[in-house]
Amino acid sequence: MWPGSLPSSYKVVKLAQGGPILEEQAVPIFDEKNCSMVIRPALVGICRSDLREVTRERVTRHDFGHEIVGKFIGANFPVPYNASSMVCLDPHVTISRTSGFGEYVFSSGSSEHLISAFPECPGSLEDYRAVFMEPLACAYHAINRLKTALDVKDFTRLNIGIVGAGNAGTLIGLIAKHFGANVSLMNRGADRLLYLLTNHIFEKEELFTEPGKVTKLDGVVLATTWLDEAIFSWGLNPLRDEGVLLLFGGTSPNRTIIRQSLDLDDIRRNQKELFYKHKSQSVRICGTYGVEPQDVRESFNLLHLRKAFPVERLIVDIVTLDDLCGLLRTLVTGKKPFWGKYLVRM
Ligand SMILES: NC(=O)c1ccc[n+]([C@@H]2O[C@H](COP(=O)([O-])OP(=O)(O)OC[C@H]3O[C@@H](n4cnc5c(N)ncnc54)[C@H](OP(=O)(O)O)[C@@H]3O)[C@@H](O)[C@H]2O)c1
Repeated sequence: MWPGSLPSSYKVVKLAQGGPILEEQAVPIFDEKNCSMVIRPALVGICRSDLREVTRERVTRHDFGHEIVGKFIGANFPVPYNASSMVCLDPHVTISRTSGFGEYVFSSGSSEHLISAFPECPGSLEDYRAVFMEPLACAYHAINRLKTALDVKDFTRLNIGIVGAGNAGTLIGLIAKHFGANVSLMNRGADRLLYLLTNHIFEKEELFTEPGKVTKLDGVVLATTWLDEAIFSWGLNPLRDEGVLLLFGGTSPNRTIIRQSLDLDDIRRNQKELFYKHKSQSVRICGTYGVEPQDVRESFNLLHLRKAFPVERLIVDIVTLDDLCGLLRTLVTGKKPFWGKYLVRM
């Protein structure tokens, strides 16, 4: 079944040399040989990686406009959705697709991949909560990696630190807390922490700007924009003997090699684990990357826990598709701080 009611063209943001532009593009021609699916985005989140696509810093993957919650419109193969189904996107599944920053998303791939890339969103979730499914699934995956490395089922009586209080660090902190941890969320700038405090997302005792104030952590997650020598030391110093340092934040092939031979990108992207001697301590360094289907399911489950996961308090603004390019330019030039979550309503 191919949706016959589609218009001949649709609006979508294109990343041009001079920056993002909103274009009217022709609806792709129906290809009978491949499985195809059409989604109409309702709400789409802006992620740090979208800003990196705008500035052309992203080299390994291209995922412009991937935090999607939208309506299933149609597919040319049997699917488990109905006419009122809402879906989210798991961008880690290999499919071809147009950007979520558009009136439609046209996608193609194997039938299995398409169905797994667009998990159905539970009807009980509002779209402004469901739009957090993907970043929360990445955070959940990271927490699971940390639990495995620490060999624990939950974090009761454990001290867990997070370096970097962006959206990723915040969601990782909320999940760690949900599993019983004493959380220390550490950030370079105080403004972002104040934002989390005044929006009642974390308590004052959980927020730190000075690394020296936090010690004897069982695990630390590095969730800053980029991982480098300084961030690495920030995470390493407060760890207890046999603690775990989890690499989550931005790395790039051959650009994040520190201390002569420690390839942070390789450890993170390939989810490796290695022992590391730091002063008199022996610690474990692990990587976390992407999500698995169970992380997506768990993310939907966590989003039903409204008190433990007040994600809507992270929403700073909701703009229209017409206003998106201007907002992206403002964010990449730093004219507006990139705190909290910006959403685009189509
Ligand atoms: N492993 C995975 O699977 C996975 C999944 C999703 C995202 N990520 C990555 O995780 C990273 C964080 O994501 P996000 O959405 O939270 O990003 P974000 O908005 O860029 O937040 C980053 C945080 O990093 C801090 N920071 C930036 N530069 C710093 C520096 N030089 N020194 C100290 N702190 C610094 C910022 O502190 P200030 O407030 O002081 O600016 C902010 O708290 C991104 O690079 C993203 O690509 C990884």
